[in-house]
Amino acid sequence: MAKLIIEDKCVLKGDVKVHSAKNAILPVIAASMLTPYTCVLEEVPYLDDVDIMEEVVKSIGAEVERTNSSLTIKAESINSFEATYELVRKMRASFLIMGPMLARIGKVKISLPGGCAIGTRPIDLHLKGLSLMGANITLGHGYIEAYAEKLRGETIYLDFPSVGATENLMMAGCLAEGTTIIENSAEEPEIVDLASFLSKMGAVIKGAGTDTIRIEGVKELKGTTHTAIPDRIEAGTYMVAAAVTGGDVIVEGVVPEHLKPVTAKLKEMGAEVQEYERAIRVSALGKLNSVDIKTMPYPGFPTDMQSQMMTAMCLAQGTSIATETVFENRFMHINELKLMGANIKVDGRCAIIEGCEKLSGAKVRATDLRAGAALTIAGLCAEGRTEIEDIFHLDRGYIRIEEKLKKLGADIRRVEE
Ligand code: UD1
Repeated sequence: MAKLIIEDKCVLKGDVKVHSAKNAILPVIAASMLTPYTCVLEEVPYLDDVDIMEEVVKSIGAEVERTNSSLTIKAESINSFEATYELVRKMRASFLIMGPMLARIGKVKISLPGGCAIGTRPIDLHLKGLSLMGANITLGHGYIEAYAEKLRGETIYLDFPSVGATENLMMAGCLAEGTTIIENSAEEPEIVDLASFLSKMGAVIKGAGTDTIRIEGVKELKGTTHTAIPDRIEAGTYMVAAAVTGGDVIVEGVVPEHLKPVTAKLKEMGAEVQEYERAIRVSALGKLNSVDIKTMPYPGFPTDMQSQMMTAMCLAQGTSIATETVFENRFMHINELKLMGANIKVDGRCAIIEGCEKLSGAKVRATDLRAGAALTIAGLCAEGRTEIEDIFHLDRGYIRIEEKLKKLGADIRRVEE
C-alpha cells in the first residue's frame, strides 16, 4: 500500500498544469459504445478510474488502445451485454454504459452499484428515465437487466439534477426514436463536454449546460476525435492549497469560468485571485478569513471541493460553516482533520469549523478521493510530519499529485510499503 509523507508545512510557489477532467472522460468513453466506428480521445491522463472504464468497455467487446496520452476506442461489435459486480464495484461510473448499451444493442445486464463511502447514491433517476423511454427493467440477485427493442424519446423530469442520470439519458436519447427532453437536467461543464462529443459523432442535442436538454434521436452515430475539458476539481484543489499555504501559484490549462464558485469563496476569504484566459493565479498573505459554503449542483459550490475548502476553513480566522446538500455522508475527512488539531463540530448536514492557530502533522487516512485531497492540503500547512494512508483513493482522480506539489516547493514523497 502506498502512502504520502509530507515532512513539514511549506509555502507553495510556481506553476502547475491540470490534466483533462476524469469526470468528463468517463462518460465520453461510455459514449464511444454508441458507434461501431473509431473514437479517439486525446490527452487522457493515466488515472485509475480511467483504467477501470477501459476495462469495462473491453469486457463488453470494445477494442481500446493507448498510445501515450491518446485512447483509441472501437466498439465494432458488442459481444457481451453484461457488466459484472467485480467491475461495477470498483467504480460507480461504470453504470454509465447502461444508456449507451440499451440504445445500441437493446439489452444490458449490469450489477447494482450499491452505496459508497460518501452516501447511498441510488440510481432510481437513471432507471426511471430509461423505463419512461421504453426499457423493460427488472432487478434481481444484485443485477439490473434491461431490454428495449427500440428506445423512444420521452420527456423526463429529474427530481434532482443528477449528473450521472443526465449523462445516461442523454446518451440513450441520441439513438432513440423521436425527441428526448430532460427537464431539471444537470448543468455541469462535464455535461456540456459530453454533448459536444456526441454532437461531433452526429447527435442532435440542444440545451446542454441549461436545465432542459433536448435530443433528437438519429439512426447512427459516427466516430470522432475529442479532448475533454480541464479538470476543474484538480484545479480547485491547487487553488485552495496555494491560498492556505500563503503561497503564489499559477494554475494553468483551466477554464476560469468553471471555477467561479471556488474563486468567489477564496476571494471572500481574502486570497488574491486573478483570472487569465486559460489560467488562474492564486496568492495569499497571512491568515484567511472565515467563510460559509453550501454545496449545490453546478453552478453552485461543488461537493467535490467541499473537503478541500474545509481544510482552509480549519485555519481561517473565525467560525465557518460548511453545508453539504448533495451527498448525505460526505464528512468523513472531519475525523482525520481533527487528528491534526482541527476544531470541527457536525450537526446533521452542517459542519461548524472554528479556525485554529495551527494544524499539526499526524498519521491520517484518505477515506475517499476528495478527503485524500483535503488531507494532503492539511499536511502542506501542518507543523511536522503528516503521513496519509490509503492514497489509492487519491490516485483515482489526481495524477502524480506529489510530483506536482514537489515542483511547487512541498517536501512530499510517496512511499510504497
Ligand atoms: C458525479 C461525479 C461526482 C460528483 C457528483 C455531484 C462523475 C463520475 N462523478 O457523480 O464526482 O460528486 O456528480 O457533482 O461524474 N441521486 C439519486 N438518484 C439517482 C442519481 C443520483 O438520488 O438516480 C442522488 C445521489 O445519491 C446524490 C445526488 O443525487 O445524493 C447527486 O448525484 P449525481 O449527480 O448523480 O452524482 P454522480 O453522477 O454519481
